[in-house]
Amino acid sequence: MAKTMRVDKLLGHTGWGTRRELKELCKGGHVTINGAVCRDSSQKVDPAADVIAVDGQAVSYEEHIYLMLYKPAGVVSATEDNVSPTVIGLLPRQYQGAGLFPVGRLDKDTTGLLLITNDGTWAHGITSPKQHMDKIYDAGVEGDIPADLGERFAAGIVLDDGLHCLPAQAVQTGPQSLTVVVQEGKFHQVKRMCAAVGLKVVRLHRRSIGSVVLDARLEPGQFRPLTVAEREALKGRSR
Ligand code: URA
Repeated sequence: MAKTMRVDKLLGHTGWGTRRELKELCKGGHVTINGAVCRDSSQKVDPAADVIAVDGQAVSYEEHIYLMLYKPAGVVSATEDNVSPTVIGLLPRQYQGAGLFPVGRLDKDTTGLLLITNDGTWAHGITSPKQHMDKIYDAGVEGDIPADLGERFAAGIVLDDGLHCLPAQAVQTGPQSLTVVVQEGKFHQVKRMCAAVGLKVVRLHRRSIGSVVLDARLEPGQFRPLTVAEREALKGRSR
């Protein structure tokens, strides 16, 4: 059976405006469905079969969106925030009505790869620790890096509140820098794991999630859609 939806929902999802604006757009005769003017914004359409256009420009609709963002420092991994700019706010208007959310969280001061989607099932497959998906971070630290750092991370760090982390990897990469690989996403996980071995994280950057690596062509604040291969690679691990 065809999956139908209201034309204002479809247009909102593709960035054509709020429900109120779309009502006016329809009333004004700007919207057509299969060539016929649609003045009723509640009219149902089948996105797979109907051709919807605004002022003659065909609207392309995809139910699910998958993006990679180079998260800059200073923005929060949230859809809304009263105080700070959000990662969703970095995206252009066409994405604002699409129900997008960040897949997991990076702290406000953490930079690097953040996935953004509106596909809850796909997102869950990535964030669930049961999937054992590696997340690789580069960290700048203060303090003396212990000689047995790798062994302690591999044994499973116990956090300050008694929480046991899954075995992880940590390798010293410079006088005050590490690469850390974790498969979970507990609150402030890398910072707290480092604190448990006497290190203060002063810089944190996520390089990759599973096989998906932050695109080197992106600057902080920039994004691009995931390729089908990237999307499927994360899904392949998740189901
Ligand atoms: N671990 C942290 O401590 N912070 C992040 O932003 C991500 C992982």
